Amino acid sequence: MQGRVVISGAKNAALPALTAALLTEDRVILHNVPRVRDISTLRSLLEDLGVDSSVTHEAHGNRIEIEARQLLNPVAPYELVKQMRASVLVLGPLVARFGQARVSLPGGCAIGVRPINLHLKGLEKLGAKISFDHGYVQARANGLRGTDFYFDTISVTGTENLMMAASLAEGVTELENAAREPEVQDLACLLNKMGAHIEGAGTHKIRIHGVSRLHGTEHTIIPDRIEAGTFLIAAAITGGELQVERCIPEHLTAVLARLGEVGVHAVQVAGESSNGGQILRVKPGGKLRALDISTEEYPGFPTDMQAQYMTLMTQAGGSSVITETIFENRFMHALELARMGADITVSGRCAVVRGKTPLSGAKIQASDLRASASLVLAGLAAEGETLIDRVYHIDRGYERIEEKLTLMGAKISRVSESD
Ligand code: EPZ
Repeated sequence: MQGRVVISGAKNAALPALTAALLTEDRVILHNVPRVRDISTLRSLLEDLGVDSSVTHEAHGNRIEIEARQLLNPVAPYELVKQMRASVLVLGPLVARFGQARVSLPGGCAIGVRPINLHLKGLEKLGAKISFDHGYVQARANGLRGTDFYFDTISVTGTENLMMAASLAEGVTELENAAREPEVQDLACLLNKMGAHIEGAGTHKIRIHGVSRLHGTEHTIIPDRIEAGTFLIAAAITGGELQVERCIPEHLTAVLARLGEVGVHAVQVAGESSNGGQILRVKPGGKLRALDISTEEYPGFPTDMQAQYMTLMTQAGGSSVITETIFENRFMHALELARMGADITVSGRCAVVRGKTPLSGAKIQASDLRASASLVLAGLAAEGETLIDRVYHIDRGYERIEEKLTLMGAKISRVSESD
């Protein structure tokens, strides 16, 4: 595979940005919003709440205009929340601005239990009354008040939910052991443009000086670092030369460091890409070396790159141990890779990958978003044809992946059930 690929906006930055628009009655305009299914699901939820929104195609991604002038009903229904647990991100903004929210509890997920106890504990500390009934969490508040909150576990959407809620609280809030992900920083940047006073995003201590009102603004969503990492591995596993454009290499430091040690050298090309953002170029680097990794919160090696990295390790010389520290059940892809000939042993949160093993095409099925990406990568490296079932998972977070891969020389097409 060769060529160039242009990275889309980050799903995990666009989702909280859309819910942040609930914090003001003014218009919020977002650019570089990826055309992925999770965004459409969230837009349906926002429209259910009574929010007006419109979408326009732009050169890169979509422009979405959102206006939450009023609220019809503060309810995030089970039907939508079960499709996308990030719907929980409406909770903080709704209770902060409208004093009430009723959100279906997300329930379990393929990759782990994923409770929202820290979101709720934090909202309670901000003064909200939390109750549960019929599978829903109800939050009520007569105005929130600033507080200090320590996250027992670092949580990305937990940090985002409380940062949004605290923006309209009376007084100062300090979030400790907060998530440092670039998506959290991008949300803080948007909120500050809306008139919030947030300091320290990107560190473990975020301080929010509450304000009485937020206003409209215009904001461009950051590029998707996980999509960029996925394509870097696509090039590495096929021995191709690739230019990854419209990305922010700094957001991929841990990934680039590990790939470098494995023998995949991606260099930053000087200057801006004609599509905006920076450029990473990866060239074929010879034999892949096995290397142990452990997933961590940012700036460590992201859990959302673990599955793709596992596929790469099936083509590396030697054994590697992959430790998943964030989610308790994120090795579903290992069984499917084994069906293609990979030699992987999973025990609890550790997987041992023995390489290099030739992969052969097979009928396999995706279990979640990043698992499906890892199976597409395996299909690119395998001999013969691979048929991946349940690819709807991949459409949740990758924009037109088969078109982008085809432009890089891959033989990949979408087939419907009946074919
Ligand atoms: C975000 O999920 C991302 N999703 C996930 O990406 C990503 O895998 C994850 O962060 C970790 O980086 C979005 O941003 C929409 P967490 P989130 O709360 O916020 C535990 C993808 O593929 N926890 O940081 O839901 C939790 O169980 C998705 O794009 C609690 O115990 O993850 C987990 O073990 C998948 N209580 C750990 O913290 C809580 O209240 C980290 O989860 C919250 C979290």
